[in-house]
Amino acid sequence: MDYTISNRMSALRGSAIREIFKYAADPAVISLAGGNPNPELFPNEALSDIAAEILREQPVTALQYGITEGYMPLRQAIRERLARVENIGTENDDLIVVSGGQQGIELATKCLVNEGDTVIVELPSFIGATNAFRSYGAHLVGVPVQNDGMDLDALERALAENNNVRFIYTIPTFQNPMGVTMSIEKRKKLYEIAKKNGVLILEDNPYGELTFNGVKTPTIKSMDTDGIVMYSGSFSKILAPGLRLGFMCAPRPIIQKMVIAKQVSDVHTPMLPQLLATEYMKRYDLDALILKMRENYAHKCKTMLDAMEQYFPSDVIYTRPGGGLFIWCDLGHGLDTFALSKKAIEQKVVYVPGNTFMVDMDQPTSTLRLNYSTMSDEKIVEGIRRLGVVFGEALK
Ligand SMILES: Cc1ncc(COP(=O)(O)O)c(C=O)c1O
Repeated sequence: MDYTISNRMSALRGSAIREIFKYAADPAVISLAGGNPNPELFPNEALSDIAAEILREQPVTALQYGITEGYMPLRQAIRERLARVENIGTENDDLIVVSGGQQGIELATKCLVNEGDTVIVELPSFIGATNAFRSYGAHLVGVPVQNDGMDLDALERALAENNNVRFIYTIPTFQNPMGVTMSIEKRKKLYEIAKKNGVLILEDNPYGELTFNGVKTPTIKSMDTDGIVMYSGSFSKILAPGLRLGFMCAPRPIIQKMVIAKQVSDVHTPMLPQLLATEYMKRYDLDALILKMRENYAHKCKTMLDAMEQYFPSDVIYTRPGGGLFIWCDLGHGLDTFALSKKAIEQKVVYVPGNTFMVDMDQPTSTLRLNYSTMSDEKIVEGIRRLGVVFGEALK
């Protein structure tokens, strides 16, 4: 039998994060590798009550096929929330509910990118998205991220050198993996650059609500008077990721084609999670839950940063996020954090090596991503202490 894999998929490598999860399953291992939300913050009792009631009182809506665009009351609730919280939505935009933000990114790529077309991505960027682009044969061009977001001079060069760019993919707020946020000045300039070049922007914002001090930078989509921004959102980090609920708000012709692409993919997002989220938002205070998350992650982030200050060699550079789930470190000195991760595993602590988030994953890098959302305070401090020893040894 011929098991040859398609060209489209054969070049794709599984996420190193999933590989690392194998080690993370060992309870003795301290995992600073994942990107999972803190499960203590899941509103499981509320969801359990709502689920029982939905299945008792609306069994047909919950269990029958639904429409591909998404459960109407949920689409309405998302539209209202987007307008209120992010100032998003014009009459030229439409909205589709998807099975996690990941699916929205994939479907948009399927609808817009022909093999060989260029997609500009931040360097580093989220591997779920870069792999989605790769799976449709996109040519990826990386633009470095600075502490205030994309290097826009490098972006202009990338646009000048590649004439078939379909879109610019950005995670402007509490970026994965760097934790940094694009300044409002850069957002405005990015919008103008994209407009001038006739290129779409895919703004991915799963972490925007997780601001530690309540300060929010306006989304790029909120500036979209020309219909050039696709906005991807998610309930994963503000409610629960296992519900697999995300949404895309974008110009109507794109959403209309994504609806057809979704019919091909999974017909519609499962109804029970859609009803759960709708009823949760109706009966409970989602903003209050998000406030609890902000406080929890702000505390954990500070715990990790304080430990890094204490235990890391003094010339290790790292970001100081204002929200989200990640800290990005650069050990410098030509160190290879992928090779070094094996030493860390021996000390029973795991992180994600930076090469995972690069366009060229084979290039060694001295960078790595740390996550603070899932471990206890004690484990965060102990994990950082152990990493400090490993990095200190490597830098000797
Ligand atoms: C930047 C970014 N975008 C999108 C996603 C996808 O999230 P989901 O499919 O759970 O909505 C993630 C998940 O970690 C992410 O970090």
